[in-house]
Amino acid sequence: MASVKPADPQAVVIFGASGDLTRRKLLPAFYHLFVEGLLPEGFAVIGYARSEMSDQEFQEEARSAVGEFGRCDASGEQWEEFRRRLSYIPGEFENENAMENLREHLESTDREQGTNGGRFFYCATPPAAYPAIVQRIGESAMHPDAKIVIEKPFGRDLESAKELNDQLHEVFEESQIYRIDHYLGKETVQNILALRFSNGMFEPIWNRRYVDNVQITVAEEIGIEGRASFYEETGTIRDMMQTHLFQVMTILAMEPPVSFDPDRLRDEKVRVLRSMKPVDPSKVVRGQYVGYRDEEDVAKDSQAETYAAIQVEMDNWRWAGVPFNLRTGKKLKRKATEVSLSFRSVPYNVFKGTDATPLGRDALVIRVQPDEGISLNLNIKKPGVGMELDRAVLDFDYEKTYHTPLLEAYELLILEAMKGDHTLFTREDEVERAWDVLAPILEDPPPVKLYQPGSWGPEEAEELVLPRHWHVTEPRED
Ligand code: BG6
Repeated sequence: MASVKPADPQAVVIFGASGDLTRRKLLPAFYHLFVEGLLPEGFAVIGYARSEMSDQEFQEEARSAVGEFGRCDASGEQWEEFRRRLSYIPGEFENENAMENLREHLESTDREQGTNGGRFFYCATPPAAYPAIVQRIGESAMHPDAKIVIEKPFGRDLESAKELNDQLHEVFEESQIYRIDHYLGKETVQNILALRFSNGMFEPIWNRRYVDNVQITVAEEIGIEGRASFYEETGTIRDMMQTHLFQVMTILAMEPPVSFDPDRLRDEKVRVLRSMKPVDPSKVVRGQYVGYRDEEDVAKDSQAETYAAIQVEMDNWRWAGVPFNLRTGKKLKRKATEVSLSFRSVPYNVFKGTDATPLGRDALVIRVQPDEGISLNLNIKKPGVGMELDRAVLDFDYEKTYHTPLLEAYELLILEAMKGDHTLFTREDEVERAWDVLAPILEDPPPVKLYQPGSWGPEEAEELVLPRHWHVTEPRED
């Protein structure tokens, strides 16, 4: 993972080049990587989508995307250099041989941009288009030695994920496939691996003997942002839980891998999923924010969830009996992605009969975003006469320590895939098992509970975790 060797020359094809993901994430990410000198000399981006667009229009679109969502200036010589590597091919996905023109364009790109036959296909279309794209690539024989990136959600249940895996494998080897989940590109998520496996002090306490419960919160302030058709079809469990929250959970719960080889790491993540029983519907709360049904293109009686909380357990020696409480939702009080391990209370309170009462459980908190950092929340003695206890926080803050903005998740993952490293991408069996665990609530989802925008979700989610409570760190004042 994150080796410093440069990627081989390659031409990137973005399918769905006129879509939201391309505009918000992909084009700004490629440009930033280019500015940072992290892309190979032989490099080009080819946009492919149904909409008619000239090369110039696509380049203009890219400039406006970088201006709106990027963090480097899209002007001057550097932009010119990048712009010259952008081109666009309008085309279909469905019709046989529809990608012949793309194949020819790739060949001329090899000559003009020195991309040397390297192929990097990025599927940024709605998932329904993936099978046709894969078939077209195979038909035009563009697949040998190519890499293909598939966006989440990968399928919508176990059966469709298997089907998609089969369709992919008809054309690509597993070693050519990169199933992306951008949470794995977040520095703070990767840092869980560093924290756990490069420090000796955590392993002895990272288990049921010391951990009382684990919480993962991914709270968003935004709503569905005009993605009604996607949300009506998908909902939070498929969009966020099966993907981002499960990824973070497996990294937290996995056994130490025998090495940092991508497959050894992914073996351990799969073992976590295998140790989970299918989710118990009585341990699930689905929520929908008040006002969701008034959004454009949302059904008046929609049962799509914009919030989900689940409690899961793992049947293994490390975690038996420890609840993992996972929640995520839109239009919540504020944006906060946080992981916490709450440790068991002291076995016997030696302060009994004094003024000191232990105030709470020790907790290790990983702030994934914003205010990225790690803190240890402890009881300490309050200064002064007598023995009174107080809460203290030992805090590590990325920004204060490193003074540099973190790499965007998409930038990092694109780079890893271009270099051919699978560590931060999900494997076939992993994605299938994650669907399998959720099958009971996908097949027969419990009714949605309404919650007010700006709250922390439905009240039922509070009951789910009793006698514990959900918590996230208060925002920093400075
Ligand atoms: C995406 C989901 O994968 O992640 C969106 O489709 C969600 O619904 C987004 O808003 C959240 O990502 P981040 O990086 O802002 O936490």
